[in-house]
Amino acid sequence: YRNLRVALLGGGTVGAQVARLMLEQADEMASRVGASLELVGIAVRDVDAQRSVDLPHELFTTDAESLILGADIVIELMGGIEPARSYILLAINSGADVVTANKALLAEHGPELFAAADQVGAQLNYEAAVAGAIPIVRPLRDSLAGDRVKRILGIVNGTTNFILDRMDTEGDTLEQALAMATDLGYAEADPTADIGGYDAAQKAALLASLAFHTPVPLASVYREGITEVTPEQIASARKAGYVVKLLAICERLTDGTGQEGVSARVYPAMVHRSHPLASVHGANNAVFVEAESAGSLMFYGAGAGGVETASAVLGDLVSIARRHVVGGPGFAASNHAAMPILSINTVITRY
Ligand code: NDP
Ligand code: HSE
Repeated sequence: YRNLRVALLGGGTVGAQVARLMLEQADEMASRVGASLELVGIAVRDVDAQRSVDLPHELFTTDAESLILGADIVIELMGGIEPARSYILLAINSGADVVTANKALLAEHGPELFAAADQVGAQLNYEAAVAGAIPIVRPLRDSLAGDRVKRILGIVNGTTNFILDRMDTEGDTLEQALAMATDLGYAEADPTADIGGYDAAQKAALLASLAFHTPVPLASVYREGITEVTPEQIASARKAGYVVKLLAICERLTDGTGQEGVSARVYPAMVHRSHPLASVHGANNAVFVEAESAGSLMFYGAGAGGVETASAVLGDLVSIARRHVVGGPGFAASNHAAMPILSINTVITRY
């Protein structure tokens, strides 16, 4: 096996789970990639901080730059704009490929980072940046690239969905539900990003750029958060058969003069309880895509959380690593260890 050196920037909610899974599933991932993925270090601010996951202390360092310079692949899970932006540029310019979950950074500086990666032929994957564990970046970028997306309606922030759901079903206040979402690892380091709709707006900019194949700057996304939503509004929505959801809406529109363009906006909306988006509970997310040929598609699953988001990060890592391996198992990996074939009756009861 070839050995690929992987540097992790950030060992918090998501980073710690990525590190744990890389260590626990090293053999399985190596067989899928055709190369071993060696976790060479984890850059953090405080190497002695208490972690949610027990990881070897010697992996931790505050010297992110040295870690980056010795890596084939860099995973950025620090969050924020700086130093994340500079570290990603350093990684790209020193020949590494990059995985990031940092929607705040991509929504502000995506064009600069993608251009830097293109210039040197580096890969920059970001599946976890939109809707946590849900595969939506690659479906929009690749699977639907031959179709015309007309509209996306998304619940793309787990924290606000969790809060609105708790206010609706448990009678919690916004503050009570936000404290729970923070404890569960759903909220951003500064939860104003969640409740103010900023995080959803960043994701809307990324979704609209992917769906409509055009740069959609964050500044052009209309944004309202959930801080003004009252228990009384939620109760009267319920009475009328609706539920309040923070929606990201990305549309291809034609104005009065026949000019075609795109619109992206985020605000709390009344969703009829018969719509599939109304039954998205807790920190789950869902992205409802309407395309000209494919029709309506819905992508649903965990929108936040350490281990759930780690799944998307590791998918990006495996995808990048496979491209390093000429003659490896590639995308149609078929060299897994043989497993016994079980009778379906032992797993799922016949309907
Ligand atoms: P955390 O705040 O839990 O972790 C951040 C980590 O980065 C910490 O280990 C911290 O070090 C380290 N770090 C921060 N700044 C620096 C710095 N200047 N130098 C070195 N290390 C630094 O964040 P999350 O794990 O929740 O999120 C990480 C990224 O993933 C963010 O971009 C977030 O938006 C995104 N994301 C998060 C999801 C979630 O559910 N949490 C879901 C999808 C995406 P230390 O531990 O020493 O403080
Ligand atoms: N804070 C974000 C959320 C994390 O609640 O959706 C996932 O991007």
